[in-house]
Amino acid sequence: MIQVKNLSKSFKKVDAVTNISFEVKKGVVFGLLGENGAGKTTTLRMLATMLKPTNGTAIVDGIDLLQHPEKVRGLIGILFGGETGLYDRLTARENITYFGLLNGMEKLEIERRIEEISNMLDMNEYLDRRAGKFSKGMKQKVSIARSIIHDPDIMLFDEPTSGLDVTSIRVVHEFIRRLKEQGKTIVFSSHSMNEVEKLCDEVGIIHKGEIVEVATIKELREKYEDMELEDIFVKLVGGKK
Ligand SMILES: Nc1ncnc2c1ncn2[C@@H]1O[C@H](COP(=O)(O)OP(=O)(O)OP(=O)(O)O)[C@@H](O)[C@H]1O
Ligand SMILES: [Mg+2]
Repeated sequence: MIQVKNLSKSFKKVDAVTNISFEVKKGVVFGLLGENGAGKTTTLRMLATMLKPTNGTAIVDGIDLLQHPEKVRGLIGILFGGETGLYDRLTARENITYFGLLNGMEKLEIERRIEEISNMLDMNEYLDRRAGKFSKGMKQKVSIARSIIHDPDIMLFDEPTSGLDVTSIRVVHEFIRRLKEQGKTIVFSSHSMNEVEKLCDEVGIIHKGEIVEVATIKELREKYEDMELEDIFVKLVGGKK
């Protein structure tokens, strides 16, 4: 369970996130939906203890991330887009193993997990090839595998499907559904209402650093009856630029 409490982040000239609060219950898939620059990555980076909030905090499974960032770090798996930070000269398997070791896992356990995750993400074919020449989608899957090697209960995925082709998007979606079945709590960001609708129990819409709506998909449909979900999103973030 994650309780976000009045979380804010200001950079020198930019208020990236302003006083946001929401709760993600255990086992829930929560979509953080917003346009470019809305504050999604900043929010997730604060939850991941990679960025210190200017104000507010979040409680992760009862632990305050300001007081015990290292404990919170151990509870979560994180995936951020952009630079993947994989080691080009290591194979996919070696990259993932390295992270497992950093997380204090035993070799055998790492091997078992790699097999399990590799099957789920359909990456057996290139598990033993060097990551340097991988396509974007292949790298993204290795990054996903790496982020959850230690089987955390809570996962934070920043735009996990960004830049992937249709097949890879499906694989990642299926993967997130499997994690949900396993009872994991997942927060992921997206700018696509369609994606959020497919995967999420709840959605938080963020605009210009503020949460403008938190609701289940069902609640959204009831509240904005007859409207397409994508139109609801545009309505909520539109006209506020
Ligand atoms: N390190 C930083 N220094 C200064 N400003 C920043 C920094 N990181 C983010 N910002 C600003 O904070 C705001 C929110 O950025 P953020 O990356 O959180 O948005 P986002 O919702 O993830 O967007 P995108 O969909 O493009 O990834 C933007 O105005 C951005 O320029
Ligand atoms: Mg972002």
